[in-house]
Amino acid sequence: STLEKTPSRAVGPTYRSEDEKPTATVSTEVPQSNVHILPQSSQLIALLSKIRDKDTDRADFIFYSNRIIRLLVEEGLNHLPTVEHSITTPVGHTYSGVKFEGKICGVSIMRAGEAMEQGLRDCCRSVRIGKILIQRDEETAKPKLFYDKLPEDIASRWVLLLDPMLATGGSALMAVEVLKSKGVPEDHILFLNLIASPEGASNFAERFPNVRVVTAFVDQGLDEKNYIVPGLGDFGDRFYTM
Ligand code: PRP
Ligand code: URA
Repeated sequence: STLEKTPSRAVGPTYRSEDEKPTATVSTEVPQSNVHILPQSSQLIALLSKIRDKDTDRADFIFYSNRIIRLLVEEGLNHLPTVEHSITTPVGHTYSGVKFEGKICGVSIMRAGEAMEQGLRDCCRSVRIGKILIQRDEETAKPKLFYDKLPEDIASRWVLLLDPMLATGGSALMAVEVLKSKGVPEDHILFLNLIASPEGASNFAERFPNVRVVTAFVDQGLDEKNYIVPGLGDFGDRFYTM
């Protein structure tokens, strides 16, 4: 019957036993408890497969990255504290709910992090956004800080730090140092990230155990040029210029 045939052709993470899963569809585990990996749903793996594919054109790359970014923002917001909040429904009943109380802002690590700003705006209307320009040296992969412009009262805000790629971790570490120098407490920073390398995620999480990292996937590692593998190549190039 069709029912019997379908499972052998289906490839989502929930359709195969652990030892049958293609390795690239299983995120690497990271020991640090401040690293939160999105639930590995078949949708997420399908979206990641789209953006990892070298033959995906720019329009599709933007579209599918945006879908993952939206999932990251929604999960990141779950890490903010809420207070009890009762409301009355149109049929006159009370609903004991919750609401977020506090101020947030986004901070993107330019250029690739700016690609995540719209996803944040879609969830948090008129959210303030700061920028930190850090670029990796193409030869050494060492990060260099060029510029930052952040909301004046950033020290009293929850900060959603945005960068899709966490490779060696150098850029993200530098960005957190900038935020700390402006008085932002570590435990008020959430780092939203699409793809991390295991070494980048561990270095970052160990150095800043109170910063929460929300990532969609931890990959297998880094290549000799410190690109993430299997990765997706250069995110900024694929989103903005390719
Ligand atoms: C990429 C990426 C991260 C960084 C990750 O940016 O967006 O910021 O590299 O690498 P790391 O963890 O080893 O520091 P890049 O400097 O290439 O600039 P771009 O955003 O302009 O592409
Ligand atoms: N930056 C990227 O855009 N991709 C990588 O693989 C590493 C750093």
